[in-house]
Amino acid sequence: MKATAVAPANIAFIKYWGKKDDTLRIPANASISMNLSAAKTTTTVSFSQEFTSDTVVLVGEDISKEETQRVIAHINRIRARAHLHMFVNVMTKNTFPKGTGVASSASGFAALTVAGCAAVGLSLSEKELTILARMGSGSACRSIPDGFVEWTDGNTSEDSYAHSLYTHDYWDIRDILCIAETKKKETSSTKGMEFASTSPHWETRQKELPERIARIKKALKEKNLYLLGETLEEDCLSMYKVMNTQKPPLFYWNRTTEECVRAVKAFRTSGSLVYFTIDAGPNVHVICEEKNQTYVLDRVKRISGVQSVLVNTPSKGTVLVDDHLY
Ligand code: PMV
Repeated sequence: MKATAVAPANIAFIKYWGKKDDTLRIPANASISMNLSAAKTTTTVSFSQEFTSDTVVLVGEDISKEETQRVIAHINRIRARAHLHMFVNVMTKNTFPKGTGVASSASGFAALTVAGCAAVGLSLSEKELTILARMGSGSACRSIPDGFVEWTDGNTSEDSYAHSLYTHDYWDIRDILCIAETKKKETSSTKGMEFASTSPHWETRQKELPERIARIKKALKEKNLYLLGETLEEDCLSMYKVMNTQKPPLFYWNRTTEECVRAVKAFRTSGSLVYFTIDAGPNVHVICEEKNQTYVLDRVKRISGVQSVLVNTPSKGTVLVDDHLY
């Protein structure tokens, strides 16, 4: 009883920051994202009568007791659905550093869900898989469907799911991901967003979101990078306004983050359609057209604090593979 899945991280064009239900991880609003081709997690899950305990291994990195418990709690959801009483072995490997604002929990829990369900022989629909993944980590639900994805604005577990708006090959844009820090962040997004509604800007953000979501959908429909970029930057800054003013306030950016943002603004003054967006961490996602990739890459690599750069195209969602990690 063994299966392996590969899942992409995703970058939110419209962010999720705050929940209607903390236990079920039902978000306060809908969000829209793109799967990332170069930021992936591979996870092998196996269950056996011969195992004498649950084990979780993250190849090349330490995994804390809390993180292990979160993985096992998710495996317990799968065991409960399958009425299975066997220990598990989980081995997982990222192509990027975890806990730095690249959504490792998104790709991690998407891969864990798809591999775990396949290992126990549960055949769930894509919608059901996204609902289950969401319970492990909210944004993980967006890493399951193909390409450009919407996570719906549901009020119950059943209607809070993710679905593909457009496949990965619909629009050839780039997300040049500048890694500005490889240390684990101090406050996880799960913890951080518990206090989102204490910000004086929270209500305004929630009121603005439906119109902004409509604009992102229009931009995707028209493949309009100007509209997409202007809107995704606006939403990123709106989320940061909430983070920076919630109680206690949260600050994820560092000096390199600011330098990257300034570089993006400089690209625009020279007439190129280049935009930034940032999740809960210091790393900067630079969104641009394919034709500007080399130019952007050369420039961001020269920023001294940028430790590495991942060039992403829109990616497929989570897939099962035959190549197991063990
Ligand atoms: O999925 P979580 O619980 O790690 O939260 C993700 C939060 C943001 O990355 C900041 C925004 C988003 O929508 O991805």
